[in-house]
Amino acid sequence: MNFKIIATGKFIPERIVTNDELTQYIDTSDEWIKKRVGVHERHICTTQSAADLAYGAAINALENGSVKPAELDGIICACISSEYASPSIACILAQRLGLSCMAYDVSAACSGFIYLLETAAGFFARGKVKKLLIVGAERMSRMVDWRDRSTCVIFGDGAGAVLLEEGDSYKSSVFKTTGGCDVVCVPQFSGENSPFYKADSPEPFIHMNGQETFIFAVNSVCSDIEYLLAENNLSMEDIAYIVPHQANKRIIDYAAVRLKVSSEKFYLNIEKYGNTSSASIPIALDEMNRNGMLKRGDLIIMSAFGSGMTSAACLIKW
Ligand code: ACO
Repeated sequence: MNFKIIATGKFIPERIVTNDELTQYIDTSDEWIKKRVGVHERHICTTQSAADLAYGAAINALENGSVKPAELDGIICACISSEYASPSIACILAQRLGLSCMAYDVSAACSGFIYLLETAAGFFARGKVKKLLIVGAERMSRMVDWRDRSTCVIFGDGAGAVLLEEGDSYKSSVFKTTGGCDVVCVPQFSGENSPFYKADSPEPFIHMNGQETFIFAVNSVCSDIEYLLAENNLSMEDIAYIVPHQANKRIIDYAAVRLKVSSEKFYLNIEKYGNTSSASIPIALDEMNRNGMLKRGDLIIMSAFGSGMTSAACLIKW
């Protein structure tokens, strides 16, 4: 026994920032960003916090499933961009929903949503919960260095949520950490005033070696998907969709070529939202669900990678 997904939701802040608008702040062009990353525009918070995004997605998913907050046995969130190191986004969400159930966050950067599913599967297997809310929410615009054109053009803000109920949809998964902690990292804000600690603090922005991340991403997406197919005696024809972390369209194009599969098999929406880290897969799932693309019984692979370096993928039956 594990879970099935009974509802999805998302919350995207209203303000759209086009590639052309970014040229006011940095030396870039719409053409470069579209060609090298695949992003046309992204949504950026002007007033909301990461917790506000999470709350919007949670309410949207609860409405989608006609589930009342009081029915929830727990909330687990993924977020690396919260304004607060503590409390967790999940605790803020629990308070706003008027709940006192278990609530905590996991930290696995852009792979976070698949770690949430794995964690949730454990609670269902132990019979500890009947309904769980899981949310990936990110205000990446808080963490990018808006002077660094190689990172700020990539990211966007948003949140996605899914509601889980007892079922048997979670079929298989694979998780890896492979070092490279300096390849993508986000130092914590260091406003410390300890009289004892002296060190040069790096700026609290996303630092990313783009090319190393790119190579890691293509390799991990391909090997994780191949592992899931082999482990479950499946071929690519058995899979309805691959829902990848939306980091760079070229990563997906390269992976599709290596996997000898049409890139149509991958659901892509990076052009509208940019890379929303742990929110990208649940936002994609919500779009697919609401567009009627997902049929009960469809086999779907989700695949993600990110800072850590972490990679994660899972096979679910919709
Ligand atoms: N506009 C115009 N030119 C640019 C821009 C920009 N926004 N950014 C970089 N360039 C320039 C560079 O300065 C360089 O110029 P030069 O040749 O004169 O030195 C040239 O473009 C090529 O730069 P590269 O870094 O080689 O560009 P690349 O094609 O590798 O694209 C990118 C960079 C988009 C970062 C790519 O490497 C990438 O997407 N990597 C993966 C990122 C990713 O997946 N991150 C997800 C994990 S993040 C997380 O977990 C929080």
